[in-house]
This record gives sequence, C-alpha cells and structure tokens, in this order.
Amino acid sequence: MKPFNEETVTEVHHWTDRLFSFTTTRDPAFRFSNGHFVMIGLPVDGKPLLRAYSVASPNWAEQLHFFSIKVPNGPLTSRLQHLKVGDKILVGRKPTGTLLIDYLNPGKRLYLFGTGTGLAPWLSIIQDPDTYERFEKVVVVHGCRQVNELAYQDLFLKDLPNHEFLGELVKDKLVYCPTVTREPFERQGRITDLIEDGRLWNDFGLPPLDPGADRVMICGSPAMLRDLKHMLEERKFSEGSTTSPGDFVIERAFAEQ
Ligand code: A2P
Repeated sequence: MKPFNEETVTEVHHWTDRLFSFTTTRDPAFRFSNGHFVMIGLPVDGKPLLRAYSVASPNWAEQLHFFSIKVPNGPLTSRLQHLKVGDKILVGRKPTGTLLIDYLNPGKRLYLFGTGTGLAPWLSIIQDPDTYERFEKVVVVHGCRQVNELAYQDLFLKDLPNHEFLGELVKDKLVYCPTVTREPFERQGRITDLIEDGRLWNDFGLPPLDPGADRVMICGSPAMLRDLKHMLEERKFSEGSTTSPGDFVIERAFAEQ
C-alpha cells in the first residue's frame, strides 16, 4: 500500500501574497487527532515531494483543510500556491505530532500561542468539543507581522460563535487574541511582549500564567519556540511529549526554506 492517499482540491483561498489555504477531499479511512500534522505534497519528476503540514480542520469534518505560507523559491510551496480546484494532492497516511491535548496535564485554561501559519493546529483544536470539556477557557493568541495576515478572523468572530453545535461552548470559553508587530493595530507586539507586560491577562480579565492551572501549546518559528519555551520554563512549566504529559507542548510551524 502506498504511504499516501491522493486527494482532490475542493477550495483554494489566497489571504495575502504570502499566505493561502486550501481544502481537499478526505479518504474515509484517514484518521487523525486534532492538532496532528501530516506529510502532504505533489509528485515532482516522478517522485513525491512532501512537507509537514498541520491539519487545520477538525477530525469530525468530511474534508481536510491546510493553511500554508508561499515561499517564492520553496521546492513545494512555489508549486502548491498554484493549486486549483480539481487538482490532485498527496496526503500521507500517518498523522503525528505533539500538539495534542492528551499530552498536557489537566488544567483550567489552555493557551494556544501561534505565529504566522502556526495558527493552523489551533484551528483544529478549537473545533474539538473535547477541548472545551477539558478546559474552562481556551485562549488563542495569533501573532503576525501585518494586519492582513490575521487569517481566519471571521471563523473566530462570526462562524464559530454561531456554529450549530460548538457555538455555545465557543461563546462561553473561547478567547481570541490577535496581535500585530509591524503596523498599527488594536494590539501591537510579539506574544512574548504580551506576556512580559501582562497585556495578555489584563486585556481579558485573566489571572497571570500559573503552572498550577494553565496549559500551553506553542507553534511558530524556531526563534519564537525558543523564546516562549524559555519564558515558560522560567515560570516552572514542564514540557510534555508524546510519551509523558507536561504543562506545555511545542511544535515548529511548517516553513519551507
Ligand atoms: P516581528 O515582526 O517583531 O519579527 P514571521 O512571519 O517572521 O514568522 O513572524 C510572525 C510573527 O512572529 C511576527 O509578528 C514576528 O514579530 C513574531 N516573532 C518573530 N520572532 C519571534 C519570537 N522570537 N518570539 C515571539 N514572536 C516572534
């Protein structure tokens, strides 16, 4: 059996000249946990060219959704960005990753810190009813350079609060905190700045980060992971893994060189 399924693209959306997303069919036998990533790609010169992508749709959805950066000379994304409805794409059969609520200790509040396309795994996790069973508050913090990179604002502000099944849970528990670093916006600064100066708590009436009650997932660039991991460890948070749960888990966001 081949290590991947061939799926069909059903929708493509370009957010900016650097970011786009697409939806594909889903093999009914393909199973994953919310927060997992999977290898996806295209055949190039007769061989599959694959990269890791977080699945941005929840595991109950009929189709698969992905959020991608466009790297001008990236071997895969320079091709993927031209995807059109009806095109075929390869999707690996073995989803994996550490960004699962199962790998966190029980807690009260779940913080999901993502920069750029590091938002993708949170899109899956916040559409999972289990997330709201386990946590009283779920705080998504999305950091971007520019306002137009704050993708999925409508999902957070309109679609999810009005969702048939998730709406009530979302209205009660989901907090959306967008922040921008390189142009004026209602909230400006890196995620690390919001933690240092306390805006993350003060803006939403939440208590400061507490390893006894808060759990954290982090997805972004290597520098962002390093800085946030350091801040959490300074605050006595322990890192979890697929083999032993902790107070926080991290994963590098997909970025093609
Ligand atoms: P900045 O504009 O100050 O570099 P990128 O597109 O480069 O991945 O960046 C996405 C967002 O992540 C930007 O707002 C960027 O801020 C921010 N960022 C970059 N490095 C870090 C870091 N070490 N810690 C927190 N945020 C970071």
